[in-house]
Amino acid sequence: MSFPGMSRPGCLARPRHDGIFSDTTYMIKILGISGSLRAQSFNTALMHAAQSLAGPGIQFDTATLHGIPLYDGDVEQREGLPAAVVQLKERVIASDGVLLCTPEYNNGIPGVFKNAMDWLSRPSSDIARVFGGRPFAVIGASPGGFGTILSQTAWLPVLRTLGTRHWLGGRLLVSRANQMFDADGTLRDEATRARLAEFVQGFAVFAKP
Ligand SMILES: Cc1cc2nc3c(=O)[nH]c(=O)nc-3n(C[C@H](O)[C@H](O)[C@H](O)COP(=O)(O)O)c2cc1C
Repeated sequence: MSFPGMSRPGCLARPRHDGIFSDTTYMIKILGISGSLRAQSFNTALMHAAQSLAGPGIQFDTATLHGIPLYDGDVEQREGLPAAVVQLKERVIASDGVLLCTPEYNNGIPGVFKNAMDWLSRPSSDIARVFGGRPFAVIGASPGGFGTILSQTAWLPVLRTLGTRHWLGGRLLVSRANQMFDADGTLRDEATRARLAEFVQGFAVFAKP
């Protein structure tokens, strides 16, 4: 079975039960980053759901922001980048694409997540290597009714400034997140699972080198 336009970058691929990349040997490396430190975070749960739904042909790794301190230019000057920042930077560089799983705080990007991105953009001479032309996409979950729509929008100028290749072929807003996940963090809503699988696979098509 073939899907017209599947090879075009940015095309929203239809998910297949056997995975859209089952006919290739290259594993597309997607790095999910959750912007919440909470153990019971809906966004971390969403990231893990994306990992489990990615399917064959996609190597989906996950990261959280634990251990990343507040950005302090004096610390940077004195000591360089903290180890946790260096590690995350290297993981971004090793990926073909990055999926940000963002909460929304006061209609914007949570400080924890923006802080991490600010560290990742240091030193500025490294921005091109870390972000330049790298596929990025954003999803998010919130117990409210608007599913992080404003924080997802707030990411746009940041990602543009850093020179990422932002995937706009799909949109995933998970509203009423408290009804979507089981207590153990499993995404139980079937419609959302299907949309998430479609999103990840569409992004992977876009991110394929
Ligand atoms: C300081 C703060 C501000 C918040 N502002 C918003 C908001 O603007 N919109 C929204 O949908 N949820 C808002 N929330 C609720 C979060 O969506 C909710 O706490 C969510 O569970 C955070 O994501 P997490 O589960 O991944 O930690 C806010 C929560 C906090 C702590």
